[in-house]
Amino acid sequence: MRNHGLKEDIRDYWSKRSSTFDLAFGHRIPPGPELEAWATTVRVAVGPKPLKVLELACGTGEVTNVLLGLGHEVTALDFSEAMLGVARAKHAGNGRARFILADAERTMEPDETYDAVICRHLVWTLTDPEQALADWLRVLKPGGRLLVFDGDWAKPTPVGRVAGLAVRVLESFMGHDPYYDGAMSQMHGDIMRRLPFSQGLTVERLEPLVRETGFVDIACPSHDPSARHSAEPRTSGTG
Ligand SMILES: C[S@@+](CC[C@H](N)C(=O)[O-])C[C@H]1O[C@@H](n2cnc3c(N)ncnc32)[C@H](O)[C@@H]1O
Repeated sequence: MRNHGLKEDIRDYWSKRSSTFDLAFGHRIPPGPELEAWATTVRVAVGPKPLKVLELACGTGEVTNVLLGLGHEVTALDFSEAMLGVARAKHAGNGRARFILADAERTMEPDETYDAVICRHLVWTLTDPEQALADWLRVLKPGGRLLVFDGDWAKPTPVGRVAGLAVRVLESFMGHDPYYDGAMSQMHGDIMRRLPFSQGLTVERLEPLVRETGFVDIACPSHDPSARHSAEPRTSGTG
């Protein structure tokens, strides 16, 4: 018998990981080639001009850092107060960053407000992808861009499995997220089984939903340039 819904479980899981999530391998975007690669990827997708950007599920504010570095005005939301606390502290004093506690599936932001909506590692964990996509289309200005960076965490490719093994070896030398123990792994598995994308988030599953929502000019470019710099088994992006 559960007294918690799926969304509460997801929020609890991420809140518990907030203070050590930056130690998880491949999550931080350190200055240097990896930050450059991310900045280039975003610049290519949305252009060089400073924009009004909504970042969904900002977590500890790593992608926020990429966006702020590109000169954008960023509204960054997350539904975990603990995650937001880390992000807020990281970007304290930056007048172009606004952090809000909100559900990415129902942002409550005004219609046609943003030039771009961006998220990394959120879509795989949505509880209602159709509703979320409709909300993101609603808050975008006409002609705005949606950028989704994500991976198929349920069924990593053979390359992803090898990368996962390499990560575990590297972690034994370089340190790891100390909070991610057996209990957290069990919690993750329990959540994963109940998600709409429990069978995996693939371009083949996501693209029709994006199209049916009303997005046009959909592209799925390779994620290789930024993935290569972090050794993380990410697979695809949809813009
Ligand atoms: C894997 S972390 C990714 C964090 C960040 N996007 C990044 O890539 O560094 C997932 C984040 O999504 C947030 N999240 C999950 N579902 C959400 C929802 N429905 N609304 C807002 N935040 C959500 C979690 O709180 C967590 O911070």
